[in-house]
Amino acid sequence: MLQRPFGFEAIPNLAKLVTVMQIRFANVDCHYHRVNGETNKLSAISTVLLKSKDEAVINAASQALSELDGYRLIFCADDEAAKSRLDELKVDLILYDFDKGDFGPENALLRSRLSHAACWRIVICDEDDVSAGAQLCEDTASYLYLAKPLQHQQLRIVVKRALEHAELSRRHRILSRELKLSLDDEIFGGEEAGSVQGGVSRFERLVYASPKMADLVAEAKVAATTDMPVLIRGETGTGKELLARAIHFNSHRVNSPMHSQNCGGVSDDALYSEFFGHVRGAFSGAIADRLGLFRAADGGTVFLDEVSEVSPHFQVALLRFLQEGEVKPLGSDKTLHSNVRIIAASNRSIDEMVEQGTFRRDLYYRLRGFQLDLPALRERSEDIPVLTQFFVEKYAGVVGRRVLGVTSDVLKRLEHYPFPGNVRELESEVQRMVAVAEQGGYVALRHLSEKIARTPVETNGNASLAVAGATLKDKVETLEKDVLRQALTTFHWNQSKVAEDLGLSRVGLANKIKRYGLRKV
Ligand SMILES: Nc1ncnc2c1ncn2[C@@H]1O[C@H](COP(=O)(O)OP(=O)(O)OP(=O)(O)O)[C@@H](O)[C@H]1O
Ligand SMILES: [Mg+2]
Repeated sequence: MLQRPFGFEAIPNLAKLVTVMQIRFANVDCHYHRVNGETNKLSAISTVLLKSKDEAVINAASQALSELDGYRLIFCADDEAAKSRLDELKVDLILYDFDKGDFGPENALLRSRLSHAACWRIVICDEDDVSAGAQLCEDTASYLYLAKPLQHQQLRIVVKRALEHAELSRRHRILSRELKLSLDDEIFGGEEAGSVQGGVSRFERLVYASPKMADLVAEAKVAATTDMPVLIRGETGTGKELLARAIHFNSHRVNSPMHSQNCGGVSDDALYSEFFGHVRGAFSGAIADRLGLFRAADGGTVFLDEVSEVSPHFQVALLRFLQEGEVKPLGSDKTLHSNVRIIAASNRSIDEMVEQGTFRRDLYYRLRGFQLDLPALRERSEDIPVLTQFFVEKYAGVVGRRVLGVTSDVLKRLEHYPFPGNVRELESEVQRMVAVAEQGGYVALRHLSEKIARTPVETNGNASLAVAGATLKDKVETLEKDVLRQALTTFHWNQSKVAEDLGLSRVGLANKIKRYGLRKV
């Protein structure tokens, strides 16, 4: 082991080799970004940072991890250099050859555990210092430790396995998040996103049947194919976050993370550190470095909920990020970069805020690369039957009971209730009704909450009755057709159930379906 500290210059040939490698790697990176437009973890070069002063270790790593095998190797002689490289680059793995003096709190490995959670670590130790190596491996939750002398074949396999393991664990994290919402998927198991079944359409977890939603989803699908920012506007509970997720999962960023942050009621500093990160000591309480959502979601999507609530000061930072993709962590003088797609949501009219001068016009124009307006539920009552049935199945599954659906009386009330809390309110109403409904039965009027049960349905009149110039016979037939269509949707075209619900014989129902030319959409 060499006694005095040195950099690359102490090994002339190696210094040359490193320079050549770094230039070549830089080219590979540029090429990669030009071709793919983003960093895809599955096919990207893995960045491995080696902290070592030991010529034998450096040589073994240089032989083991070649550019051709897909590795970008960064050499650092000491902790200081390692920390600064960690801040500048997205490092996938650290090979940390430790010295006796490396056990202080400034130890790069120790710090990286908190500040770069996605980066994996391998400790390298002297043959006669294995117990200290094992201890450091333990303290820093490292993947494993290796004792010198290193064989480059062994190092190549270990690094490959560690990176495979890191990738599996990254995918596991993403899938676990998804699993939370998998109940919805079970209901539509095997269907493709965007599929239509029995008149019910789906865009990821958004369920709908109305033409208004169909138009909106068509626009969202176009937005998903681009990298432009998206601004989603809609009243509370209309499904803004669900739509944002659907866009992310239908974009080419699907294999990278999507992070969400609500901007309402959060102080400027907290918001800044949440999005841009901070370095240790940037403010009292900053006990460790924080990566920040923009860098954590590199290659993916960041969802800013309630974006209308950010202060004018933060609006400037956001605008800079949208323009340059630059991230400057709080307390750091380094400017870093991140490639994320921004989706923002607001339930206030930002238009008006711009007119009043409380929201920057330039930021507004930047954010609304695409502007998607989610209609209130009362403006798309065609969605109520399909959403109701969807939530019945979802929550019947949750409480483990058989609930067949809702009666047409209940559905009528739901369709006429204005739902100020939109889909969220409908969802909790159905959830409550399913919990009190009888096993094997339908949700009936008595299960409805009082405010909805009191909703006048007759007085509002049926739109069909207002058909100008129609005779009484026409009006009755139009009404009958509507009732049939509604019941068929509610019971997913199960004609026995529809006949039972409407008090018809199966043959009588079949005749009416034929007469009115009703068809499963
Ligand atoms: N079209 C839909 N299909 C299925 N579920 C929906 C739909 N729209 C909304 N939901 C459900 O309604 C609830 C509210 O949705 P979400 O959180 O996306 O709304 P939001 O507009 O972001 O609300 P807020 O403005 O309060 O943040 C969620 O439980 C969501 O799953
Ligand atoms: Mg929301």
